[in-house]
Amino acid sequence: MFRSHTCGDLRINDVGSKVSLCGWVHKVRDKGKIIWIDLRDKYGITQLIFEDSNTDSNTFLKARNCGREFVLKITGLVSERSAKNKNIDTGNIEIIVDEIQYLNKSELPPFIIEDETDGGEELRMKYRYLDLRRNPLQKNLKLRHQLMRETRNFLDSKNFIEIETPVLIKSTPEGARDFVVPSRMNQGEFYALPQSPQTFKQLLMISGFDKYYQLVKCFRDEDLRADRQPEFTQIDCEMSFVERDDILSNFGDLIKYLFKKVLGITINNIPVMEFSDAINFYGNDKPDLRFDMQFVDLFNDVKGSGFNVFDDAEAIIGINVPNCSEYSRKQIDELTDFVKKPQIGAKGLVYIKYNKDGTLKSSIDKFYSSDKLLDIVSKCNSNKGDLVLILAGEKNNTQNALSELRLLMGNKLSLRNPKEFKPVWVVNFPLLKWNEELKRFNAMHHPFTSPINEDISLLDKDPSSVRANAYDLVINGVEIGGGSVRIFKKELQEKMFNVLGFTKEESKKQFGFLLNAFQYGTPPHGGIAFGFDRLCALFGGKESIRDFIAFPKNTSGRDVMIDSPSKIKLDQLEELGL
Ligand code: AMO
Repeated sequence: MFRSHTCGDLRINDVGSKVSLCGWVHKVRDKGKIIWIDLRDKYGITQLIFEDSNTDSNTFLKARNCGREFVLKITGLVSERSAKNKNIDTGNIEIIVDEIQYLNKSELPPFIIEDETDGGEELRMKYRYLDLRRNPLQKNLKLRHQLMRETRNFLDSKNFIEIETPVLIKSTPEGARDFVVPSRMNQGEFYALPQSPQTFKQLLMISGFDKYYQLVKCFRDEDLRADRQPEFTQIDCEMSFVERDDILSNFGDLIKYLFKKVLGITINNIPVMEFSDAINFYGNDKPDLRFDMQFVDLFNDVKGSGFNVFDDAEAIIGINVPNCSEYSRKQIDELTDFVKKPQIGAKGLVYIKYNKDGTLKSSIDKFYSSDKLLDIVSKCNSNKGDLVLILAGEKNNTQNALSELRLLMGNKLSLRNPKEFKPVWVVNFPLLKWNEELKRFNAMHHPFTSPINEDISLLDKDPSSVRANAYDLVINGVEIGGGSVRIFKKELQEKMFNVLGFTKEESKKQFGFLLNAFQYGTPPHGGIAFGFDRLCALFGGKESIRDFIAFPKNTSGRDVMIDSPSKIKLDQLEELGL
């Protein structure tokens, strides 16, 4: 037996027991006649003590020669510590060691294995297995495991079954680029890695598996951000004989269950918001509802006073920022610089300070009387002491820019608490979005999403106004999941491909298998997929999903540890016919 306990097990009532432990040397403190070693494993840290006076000289020497991260097996006696450490669970005891064995030595690690390390990002990625020894990452991966297990428990209890779908498939049009894999046996032809198992889960509905799920790897060749990886995991789900609200209720329950089970947080109600309201009130289809600052449309209130910026604008929108009327010139200038950054794209920023004494001060005093300014701040529901910020210009740009400014102000005022969770279903997205480059429509979600019934007749007349029977689950401004009720009739699916600019031949070539299958008794169905890595990061209170993936890619899509992607040998290429 290697060990009788882990390094997190022992407590005061174990004093007097003879134990053996295994673990890594976390720290050595050598005070000459006494040496302490902190021994670490996945479960915790236990202090070992070696006293020159009553330790055999060979053991004492071995303790002295221990380096960081050596792997040890020790046996000894649990005893009460004189100086207790309240910060760790084993802080009341230490082990008086009588035998120490090096199971393995270690080179000096390139960065320190502590909660706060000195290693830069690149170095830690190269030695990811060492980074993973650190507590924060150990915690993240345990959280991931817990979420995975509870997801399976919940869905299993609702009679869902997990079915694996293939990884070598053919291109699925989900909006990103595919990763492709050359076929040796079919030279010149390629598999694609799935961006999601979308068509397979629909086929499973046709096969009669009316409740499917899969914790599944998906692959998308797109530019990376904090919440995007080229390979990521979805909780992918599909159900038959359901309408939208059945799906929202069922998967809303999954999310509530996970919050309760994993974080002990009760989520009572997940509100439903129209896509159009999300855009009009937050400028964004992923509204962060942890704080207010809703958009106020000021178009009809401020036009025609000779202020060109407003008079020429397609949209004029304000937000009320509480308790910021005392912002200095410098602070306002910083906000102005922020909105003028190219990626934000506003031309300038108008402010109105509703001072604590009831007076008003604004950047548009020349054009508007105090009474008018008071009307504007009242419309924005301001109180004395608040600051109104207004952007104007082309509608989409103004909404986008004000959305960014709103989030910035939320951050500045510490209104985006990572321990508070505000989920919302955003529903009724547009079915299509215009692709200016290709001069045709793309599916906003994917081509299998059903239009809302009452909008089907608009598919010919006015495609851009057709709403999709689609929904996203947004939590704290992050898109955690998305799905839709599907098209399940061949004719409508053919029509949809047609609206998306596919010729009959093209849609037959790419999706003939699905159109064929639709002819053999396809039940009404719908589903959703959650971004599992995003869910983990959200539960862990972090923005980057990388820290919740054991071996992630860096921002250039590289795994610097295994050095991938990498060139392959000429004969390998030849074998593949490349
Ligand atoms: P969608 O494309 O919206 O829907 O993806 C579902 C969820 O997956 C997460 N996600 C990602 N997470 C990390 N890295 C990425 N690159 C990445 N891309 C997406 C998001 C997103 O909400 N087949 C449909 C689902 C359906 O209709 O049932 C689909 O894949 O959290």
